[in-house]
Amino acid sequence: MKKQMILTAVTLIVAIVAIFTFASCMKLKPIDPEENEAPGELTPEAAITVYSIKEAEGGILVNLSCEFNGFEDPDLSEWTLDFILTDKYFEEEYYQTAELKVSPADYLIECPKERSGGELSLLVQIREKKNWKNCAGGAYLEISYGLPQLTTDGVLCVLSEMTVEDKANLVFGHDPIKGGASGGTYSLWRFGGPSVTVNDGPAGIRYSHGIWYPSMMNMTSSWDNELIAVIGSHIGSDTLSNGIDVILGPGMNIQKNVTGGRNFEYCSEDPFLTGMAAASYVRGVQSSGADACIKHFALNNQETYRGSVSANVTERALREIYLRPFRIAVEKSEPEWIMSSYNCLNGTHTSIDRELLTDILRNEFGFKGAVMSDWGSAGSVVDKVKAGNDLNMPGASSDKDAVIKALEEGKLTIEELDACCERILRAVAGSATKREYPMNTGIDYDGHSDFAADAAAETMVLLKNDGGALPLKKGTSVALFGNGSFNTVFGGDGSGVVYARSTVNIFDGIKNSKKLSLYDEYGNPFVYCEPHSAEKPENDVKVTAEYAAETSSNADCAVIVISRSSTEGADNQVCKGGFYLSDNESDMIDTVSKAFHEAGKKVIVLLNVGNPIEVVSWRDKVDALMMIGYPGERTGTAVAAVLSGEKTPSAKLTMTWPVDYEDVPAFAYFPGKSSAATYYEDIYVGYRYYSTFGKEVAYPFGYGLSYTGFSYSGFKLKKTEQGNYYAEVTVKNTGKANGREVVEFYVSKPETSFEQPSFELCAYAKTSEMKPGQYQTVKVLIKASEFATYDTENSRYIADSGKYTFYVGNAAGSFLFSTETERDAVTVVYEAENRCVPKAKFDVLKKAAK
Ligand code: BGC
Repeated sequence: MKKQMILTAVTLIVAIVAIFTFASCMKLKPIDPEENEAPGELTPEAAITVYSIKEAEGGILVNLSCEFNGFEDPDLSEWTLDFILTDKYFEEEYYQTAELKVSPADYLIECPKERSGGELSLLVQIREKKNWKNCAGGAYLEISYGLPQLTTDGVLCVLSEMTVEDKANLVFGHDPIKGGASGGTYSLWRFGGPSVTVNDGPAGIRYSHGIWYPSMMNMTSSWDNELIAVIGSHIGSDTLSNGIDVILGPGMNIQKNVTGGRNFEYCSEDPFLTGMAAASYVRGVQSSGADACIKHFALNNQETYRGSVSANVTERALREIYLRPFRIAVEKSEPEWIMSSYNCLNGTHTSIDRELLTDILRNEFGFKGAVMSDWGSAGSVVDKVKAGNDLNMPGASSDKDAVIKALEEGKLTIEELDACCERILRAVAGSATKREYPMNTGIDYDGHSDFAADAAAETMVLLKNDGGALPLKKGTSVALFGNGSFNTVFGGDGSGVVYARSTVNIFDGIKNSKKLSLYDEYGNPFVYCEPHSAEKPENDVKVTAEYAAETSSNADCAVIVISRSSTEGADNQVCKGGFYLSDNESDMIDTVSKAFHEAGKKVIVLLNVGNPIEVVSWRDKVDALMMIGYPGERTGTAVAAVLSGEKTPSAKLTMTWPVDYEDVPAFAYFPGKSSAATYYEDIYVGYRYYSTFGKEVAYPFGYGLSYTGFSYSGFKLKKTEQGNYYAEVTVKNTGKANGREVVEFYVSKPETSFEQPSFELCAYAKTSEMKPGQYQTVKVLIKASEFATYDTENSRYIADSGKYTFYVGNAAGSFLFSTETERDAVTVVYEAENRCVPKAKFDVLKKAAK
């Protein structure tokens, strides 16, 4: 995207150059428009790095080096350097060529004395001597009043002119230009470097008024990468419309435990699904011109003690489960920013962990952007800079003195400081503010809210539908029960909340539906209820047998809403009103189900929750169960669309729903002590645990029903020369409604000296909407990197030799076809180095414990 912009800018300038005739002056050669009438496209086959621009006797002295990437052994004598200098004030342009050198060299660009001394722009390009059209790379620079101005190509020039004070100021946050936003960067106005504003995320921009989109958890349950990218692009556009450059999202920590307070901001218990969903979100946001900041790197899997706890984890689980999604997101979407987390990893706070932020994230994963800390995280600004945590947020004025003092005392080197400044400068140079994107334009509230409602309907997971209880027939009158029908939880709390301009609760959604009608709009006992609260069980309104009986004889069906709030800063509770139903909720389900079933009518339960809750003890009492999660500001509209069959559900669970809390992997180790939590389950997170250890579950990972049915046929697997696989399968809509199916591919790996879970997700795809009788062939590429094992002893990722079984199915463990294949030898997928290793040995779960 940005590369393309530079190319466009460069091409534009070249075009301007071609059109004008220029005043000639000593030693400067005016460009002949005849000769250059059709300048060629720049191709990034060669690159120019500019280290400094300085005023000098007779002109401007530029120090730069050239690098040829796309040519084997280029003959340098065939290439030349073009310099096109534009005096913006006098609107004049001058052209000069020079002999190209690869290593850094000074070039004097001669300028007429009478130039304005104000704003100049300089285009440098590598061009084939005999062919004007063949430009192989270029750089675009600006100079103002003698100082280089920030451009993506001129970062090093700016850095070379910055004072130590400038640098010390740049590595911590400053008040944002947009008051009320989460933070901003230091304004380097002398260098044309604006302050960049950042704000939360991820379910929409948390500014004065925004659009509240489905939570990250909901987005991911669509298993629809394209949809997530489109949601991301809407969120990016809202971000810019509010005058903000960077949205602090997506959240992408692993949903490790079913009580995780921020699971709603995260994607899944599975690393591959998490990485793909987060990458899609970033792609969407960044396609709009805003920047994304993936967070929290890494291991912020619990909110209890988040500022102090050390996630103590083996290097294998660290890499295969917790870091892998970040690697996927970095590789697939190139996020501009990453936020480090509050917690420690194996004893070191992540924001001051050089092995994590520099050795792994940058050197191994290839992250090119900048790292900011989470707000007020532990560790001094100096230690953060040393580790490669570029920006300390929200920052304090004392940070500047601390950085300068550390330099003076030799505790920090200028190289360490420069490395952070360079990365921040790159992010600022590419920001929407610097690129003068249209911002502060005001959000398209109506259009985006309608989109949010449509998107929300794609994220609801149908868990149970006995006797075709759903969809409801046109005209069905719905009796609503449960605090959540009025006090609907649209999303989670904390920094991830969005101040929506308007919301539609479930009550209004059904009331406004053209297909359904609402029973007892005025007499409903829940109209004035307080929100559900685990601490205040009396908030849950009691339903009397009389009210249930009266309602069941007049309404056509009952819809009961069970809601739970979740928030940053606290994990959910394993108590009645938390993971379990409160007594009043249990009574309500009993009383309503009894009355409606006696009247021959159906009972539907909607789970408006940010985490799985216990359902096995009561689900048999109801006919249909739907996990609606936190679908955003138009929850009610989306619920009505799905209940009425206007939309067929097609989402699937991103987390396993356990039978009981004590079935959760390593539940006894969560949340641990304030100083440490042992990741005892090791690689057996989520379904990897339940399937391997033979634990029954309420609903498996990847599970979700539809109003129609699907058959699978023609499963094929083919190995590629690189050791990857192509898989395909044909899916047919065999039911009576239109619908989409998520097709899931899993792999079971050979058990050599490494423990392995029964199976792991290695690819997925979602069909487009199919009419009854229609079919589609889904094709996926399964890369060896998606099922690699981290071999700690040899610090490398490998695809082991032996027998592999690939499965296709519609949920974890619900497999329709499988095929076996052998790998003759061990393949090394990536080399790595042992990093962030545990400080002391601890026991982890092994199959032997089965
Ligand atoms: C949260 C981050 C958030 C930041 C800024 C912190 O408390 O953990 O996710 O982006 O605040 O609001």
